[in-house]
Amino acid sequence: MKVAVCIGSACHLNGSRYVVEQLQRLIEEKKLDDVVELEGRFCMGQCSRGICVTVDGDRFSIQPENAEDFFLTEIESRVKK
Ligand code: FES
Repeated sequence: MKVAVCIGSACHLNGSRYVVEQLQRLIEEKKLDDVVELEGRFCMGQCSRGICVTVDGDRFSIQPENAEDFFLTEIESRVKK
């Protein structure tokens, strides 16, 4: 599974770095390192909505404080299918 977090300037200012750190921590804690590939992406054109994240090509816009919920609902749950 590929997860990409936008590190373009608008998303960076909104806290994408924090999102990356949270996702990295959760992936490690849940031992999903060999299943989930986390990468950075440049602007995906959705800057106004929040931090842009894609999971296997599906786009989401999230807030830094929602990073953990996002991980549980959109990443961990997909892995377990
Ligand atoms: S900077 Fe992230 S979508 Fe534009």
